[in-house]
Amino acid sequence: MLRRIGERDSCWCGSGKPYGRCHMEFDRKISRARFRGCQVPSHKIIKTPAQIEKIRESGKLNIAVLDYVAEHIKAGITTQEIDRMVYEYTTKHGGIPAPLNYEGFPKSVCTSIDSQVCHGIPSEDVILKDGDIINVDVSTILDNYFSDSSRMFMIGKVSPEKEQLVRVTREAVEMGLNEVKPWGFLGDMGQAVHDHAKKYGYSVVEDVGGHGVGLEFHEDPFVSYVTRRGTEMLMVPGMIFTIEPMVNMGSEEIYVDDSNGWTIYTEDGKPSAQWEIMVLVTENGHEVLAW
Ligand code: MF3
Ligand code: CO
Repeated sequence: MLRRIGERDSCWCGSGKPYGRCHMEFDRKISRARFRGCQVPSHKIIKTPAQIEKIRESGKLNIAVLDYVAEHIKAGITTQEIDRMVYEYTTKHGGIPAPLNYEGFPKSVCTSIDSQVCHGIPSEDVILKDGDIINVDVSTILDNYFSDSSRMFMIGKVSPEKEQLVRVTREAVEMGLNEVKPWGFLGDMGQAVHDHAKKYGYSVVEDVGGHGVGLEFHEDPFVSYVTRRGTEMLMVPGMIFTIEPMVNMGSEEIYVDDSNGWTIYTEDGKPSAQWEIMVLVTENGHEVLAW
């Protein structure tokens, strides 16, 4: 038999406070939303204050790794050198690069250039050259807590078309972020992202998306950026997820490189851009934990 949690029992969130004075109202609000037919988060993906503090620390290291890459990235270096920077900086500061050996991924970071949509594998043979746009996707484990974010870098002089793609993708993430608040829906964010990309004739990749993060690298929910306002999961305080749309200059069609099973390319060979931030839903809005 399972007894329903009582008002005087200590709350499931680990605060030590009685349920009635902690998450009881919160759970009622979620139940009412579920009853109305909304997709709602399970307790498992709602982080406690103690967990949030640890994930925030992990995010700080993730940001520092990307800042370090930003200082050193330039034409003439190989993507393997980016991998070495990420590995060395992360481990020197007590972290572990989350991609390394993740489901067989061979390197510490993803480096995706031009028509590579995501999951590019660093290599001695890939030399950054003038005019390239590259996404560097860093994920960190610190004290067992995960963080994840990525940035675009423009190498030397980039064409105005590619520069616009990079800028608009970043703006799309910011517009999505503006929609992140408790008791809204992930679809509010998704709609804002793709509305902005489509204004420029770009397309947003449907088959690869974002995710919950923190206690694991990839948690529920799957976060799509091709969604409608008022749909998808309810956003509640304590949820942490990524906003990481892949925006293609041409069509949204993609394929996976058979030779490594990882790297995703645009079908039409046109460039793709991605920025990724990790966001916490708070009581009054949001907090960006990594960018
Ligand atoms: N960092 C990617 C993300 O944003 C995941 C990469 S998985 C890897 O979700 F194995 F390729 F690293
Ligand atoms: Co991610």
